[in-house]
Amino acid sequence: MSIYSETADYIAKKIGTIPDTAIILGSGLGRLADEITDKVVIPYTEIPHFIRSTAPGHKGNLIFGKIEGKYVLAMQGRFHFYEGYSMEQVTYPIRVFAKLGIKKMFVTNAAGGINTEYIPGDLMLIKDHICLMPNPLIGKNLEEFGPRFPDMTMPYDKELRLSAHRIADELKIKLYDGVYLGLTGPTYETVSEIKFFRMIGADAVGMSTVPEVIVARHCGIRVFGMSVITNKATSEDSTTENDGNEVLIEADKAASKMMNIVKKLLKQN
Ligand code: HPA
Repeated sequence: MSIYSETADYIAKKIGTIPDTAIILGSGLGRLADEITDKVVIPYTEIPHFIRSTAPGHKGNLIFGKIEGKYVLAMQGRFHFYEGYSMEQVTYPIRVFAKLGIKKMFVTNAAGGINTEYIPGDLMLIKDHICLMPNPLIGKNLEEFGPRFPDMTMPYDKELRLSAHRIADELKIKLYDGVYLGLTGPTYETVSEIKFFRMIGADAVGMSTVPEVIVARHCGIRVFGMSVITNKATSEDSTTENDGNEVLIEADKAASKMMNIVKKLLKQN
């Protein structure tokens, strides 16, 4: 039995029912976990082969329970490449989701706004990404999960995107539709890098999500992604420096808007 199956079996025994949807809660967005009822909380440290998260604002729990009457499995805290984990470790939970039989993955993150219209506290639905991180599928292909050369024409599920926009309209929440650019970090970007990223079509920039999405698509899991714009990425006329605190404060404020969209999305899909 593969280690992925060992981990999945452990989790399946703890939770009993396999949910349709897994949610990855990003920086400061762990509060969504408070909305989960009938909880089973499994610390990462207790899960065979799981690693613990060291990033600020990231707890390390797998939380099973109900949101809006639907079972979900939520990751409160994710693993980042900049923490020093390998891509295989960063994306380990996604392959466990696949082994569990999970069909959909909702990913959330904090991101810097590159699009000049974006201001801190805005929400951006991820319509596509640009991967400037090492590809997590480099290495021997794991045939049990998917093909050697997975398609990436449309990594973010169209139905879920349309549904989220309908919901945001109903709730009168402004929801941008943008391209997320994934970098390794941990440095924030230089002024010249931001200019370059704007030129190549990125709307927001961050240090996560893309590896998980690529691995989820390799496994055939449908993906939905949303970013909280926590800061304007650096520009030449910036008077302030990027700091992690601003990111956590804005993420917290926008979390309730995002929570309302995600809850309805779960209910309707
Ligand atoms: N850059 C990269 N990652 C980020 C940022 C940023 O400006 N804000 C939040 N995550």
